[in-house]
Amino acid sequence: MNISNPFYTCKNCWLYLGDCVEVMKEIPSNKFDMIFADPPYFLSNGSFTCQNGIAVSVVKGKWDIGGSQLDNYRFHLSWISECYRVLKPGGTIWISGTYHSIYQCAMALAEFDFKVLNDIIWFKPNASPNLSCRFFTASHESLIWARKGQKTKHIFNYDLMKNGDWGSDFIKKPNTQMRSVWAINPPKKEEKQFGKHPTQKPLELLQRIIMSCTNEGSLILDPFTGSSTTGVAAKKLGRKFVGIDIMQEYLDLSINRLEHVI
Ligand SMILES: C[S@@+](CC[C@H](N)C(=O)[O-])C[C@H]1O[C@@H](n2cnc3c(N)ncnc32)[C@H](O)[C@@H]1O
Repeated sequence: MNISNPFYTCKNCWLYLGDCVEVMKEIPSNKFDMIFADPPYFLSNGSFTCQNGIAVSVVKGKWDIGGSQLDNYRFHLSWISECYRVLKPGGTIWISGTYHSIYQCAMALAEFDFKVLNDIIWFKPNASPNLSCRFFTASHESLIWARKGQKTKHIFNYDLMKNGDWGSDFIKKPNTQMRSVWAINPPKKEEKQFGKHPTQKPLELLQRIIMSCTNEGSLILDPFTGSSTTGVAAKKLGRKFVGIDIMQEYLDLSINRLEHVI
């Protein structure tokens, strides 16, 4: 990477501290093969979740407190605009979210020349129950996969997806095409051994994503890197990685995780 003042570097890995829009403005255009973005879902606004059978208020951090619908949409528009610029033509972006955020992200994507390739349902087999018993139990997150350019070509490692070993995913049957619903459990205990991030993604999810649409040596960006699950997966799979986060404590956790990748 040729932008100045990384917070941390190691071989093929760069972490930046700051607002992702400001940091991305320093990055030349058409640089990345893939982006994984796990932006705030803006849930820490008085809503409740269930932990060990008890209702607890959702407080993930200041960064997860949203504004009005319009403010939140403008936020998504601003980072997606920079992602569009720094992605190579034919490069792909993944955006994760729940219904609280994912439709706004999809609306913002539509402002640019992106082609949506798939929407993936990440099914969580052991999701928390719904305490109010007035709604269906939320047990999935959505992932949009989109390509920069309507007419460009993207990478899809079809055979690997079809014939790979997908561990505990009971939906994926051997030697059949990979479908758009993936059953993946939350992060394993050992993935949290260096500390906790409130919304850490499972390594299995990021490994599958990276394997599906990049090759060894590809350059990957995560503008909301958190504990750098994307970076850990990228490093394990021989890809190059740039991560950005606004919270130093999460970059400290990222460094710990990245330094222990074998
Ligand atoms: C949903 S979490 C990402 C979790 C990550 N995928 C992981 O596996 O650990 C979102 C992250 O974005 C960071 N963040 C929020 N607003 C940001 C901004 N404007 N620029 C950069 N990072 C931001 C938060 O500090 C948080 O760590």
